Amino acid sequence: MPTAKKILRIIMIGLLAIFIVMQFIQPARNVGSELKNIATVFPIPPKANKILVESCYDCHSNNTNYPWYSRIQPAAWWMDGHVKEGKKRLNFSEFTAYPLYKQFHKLEEVTDEIENDEMPLKSYNWIHPKMTSDDKIILLSWASATRDKMKLMYPPDSLVKPSAR
Ligand code: HEC
Repeated sequence: MPTAKKILRIIMIGLLAIFIVMQFIQPARNVGSELKNIATVFPIPPKANKILVESCYDCHSNNTNYPWYSRIQPAAWWMDGHVKEGKKRLNFSEFTAYPLYKQFHKLEEVTDEIENDEMPLKSYNWIHPKMTSDDKIILLSWASATRDKMKLMYPPDSLVKPSAR
């Protein structure tokens, strides 16, 4: 009969082995083109751009600024999930490829998310400095100014979802 101590030791060694093997399975890094970035059509004021890059681009662009612990599993998988999900919903690096109505709507959602304090994700704020209320005001006015620019540049119809026209 193996003693409880022995069983515990086997479990610990097993877990350690799993942890080590996990370190070799790394998700692909988020590195890509910025040619269709929103700023290529709608220049972003430097202050707003800095906040976007620091607070949003890690999950909503083709280029994540990875922290050192991003190589440690399971943190890397967890982050990768957020990046994939975030990019699927809104990717500033692919923004100009969206249909106009979608671009307009995503900017409305940016306003909603910031006003309701939903973005960045709570877990992101554990480690990254939180956006200040000034940062939020700057992003909110950037999003609404960009929507205003769109209204001047494009016919009103093009900013409405086809099914709602
Ligand atoms: C740590 C990753 C992460 C960061 C940083 C982040 N987001 Fe998100 N964002 C997500 C994820 C994941 C979703 C989808 C799930 C959800 O809505 O909670 C999302 C959803 C959104 C949506 C909804 C899009 C849609 O069509 O439903 C908007 C808008 C958004 N984020 C804007 C922002 C803005 C603006 C910032 C910066 C102030 C930001 N996010 C920072 C991960 C992130």
